Amino acid sequence: MSEFSAPKGIPDYFPPASADFLAVRTALTDAAYRAGYGHIELPVFEDTALFARGVGESTDVVSKEMYTFADRGGRTVTLRPEGTAGVMRAVIQHGLDRGQLPVKLCYSGPFFRYERPQAGRYRQLQQVGVEAIGVDDPALDAEVIAIADEGYKRLGLTGYRLDLTSLGDDTCRPQYRELLQQFLLGLDLDETTRERALINPLRVLDDKRPEVREMTADAPLMLDHLSDSARDHFEQVKGHLDRLGVEYVVNPRLVRGLDYYTKTTFEFVHDGLGAQSGIGGGGRYDGLMKQIGGKQELSGIGFGIGVDRTVLALEAEGVSVAGVGRVDVFGVPMGSAAKAELVALAGRLRDAGVKVDLAYGDRALKGAMKAADRSGARLALVLGDRELDDRTIELKDLTTGDQRKVALDDALAEVLSVLDI
Ligand code: HAM
Repeated sequence: MSEFSAPKGIPDYFPPASADFLAVRTALTDAAYRAGYGHIELPVFEDTALFARGVGESTDVVSKEMYTFADRGGRTVTLRPEGTAGVMRAVIQHGLDRGQLPVKLCYSGPFFRYERPQAGRYRQLQQVGVEAIGVDDPALDAEVIAIADEGYKRLGLTGYRLDLTSLGDDTCRPQYRELLQQFLLGLDLDETTRERALINPLRVLDDKRPEVREMTADAPLMLDHLSDSARDHFEQVKGHLDRLGVEYVVNPRLVRGLDYYTKTTFEFVHDGLGAQSGIGGGGRYDGLMKQIGGKQELSGIGFGIGVDRTVLALEAEGVSVAGVGRVDVFGVPMGSAAKAELVALAGRLRDAGVKVDLAYGDRALKGAMKAADRSGARLALVLGDRELDDRTIELKDLTTGDQRKVALDDALAEVLSVLDI
């Protein structure tokens, strides 16, 4: 055991599992790129006030989970707990909203939340996110949701459902909030829940305790109190999702952990993950830009998908997403002259786009062939002194066991033809 280990709740990603991680992240970003989203690389830490104001002081994320510290200049900074506030900040700072709208951006990387670690809940978590800013069009909400759905489907994930609701807009939400608060304060709630009802009444609807669930079973629901325009928006989103073939369940009690949501709000939930079942979520956030100091009020819609949890969900379903092998070809040199030849051949093969590894360290044939098997390569190239004399090389198909000699000078072409590259 080394003296050091990674900080509590912070995962490492290494082979072979890291190949699944990478494949998942790529599949999700590719789904966004196919819909015209451009890549944005965000700073890993920002001014603390950006998250406090953007995400909301009353959320657990801001009040309990932020990694906040003073830098050497005495500024208070925070490791990003999520990506939406940072994207909005960048859009405002660089005037991206003065260009063509919507601004469609995609990001991926680590986010930090000081939560209690457990299966599927990490203090450094990985997300792929998209944000579409500047156009309030229900068809755009449906596009964002469909990107996530398509990403999951392409990965082969099946055991998930999409919960969908509308959290209303500023013409109906304040009245509803009051109505809900009145209802909740009339119940026999414990002190903490009562306090929550005062600060953030919607969160009480998210309480998982059966006694609270029972008490709030008849609570007024936002969906029954939507303004005409919010209801029309929601109906249109559902219509577009139907046209896109995205299945959803309307869940009027869906509550998200961040404060900025308005209108369309959604969460992807997977059955095979236990308590941490949210594999992705998002929604519209029409008030966020004003909240963090933007001059105009630009609407936005986006999602954050948990890459770690998507990997766990695929594992739970027994789906493998990474390619079979780490490399296509594994070279086995027997002797130093053969090694020199194979090093050069490996270089030429890589230039041609073939993934190649070699048995380094002058290993005996048996051990080297074992390494070839373990690499997952389709082909092994075995070169010894005898072959060198007659300028041939042994080409072994590791899946069938078939073996044949080919001319050393033709090896590259032979490999390309077998691998169909
Ligand atoms: P969020 O629901 O807080 O939304 O996080 C998105 C996803 O990140 C979750 O559904 C979950 O899969 C994953 N996640 C969150 N916390 C953890 C954790 N501690 N460990 C592992 N995975 C985790 C947001 O962050 C919003 N910014 C999404 C968004 C974008 N809304 C609009 N635009």
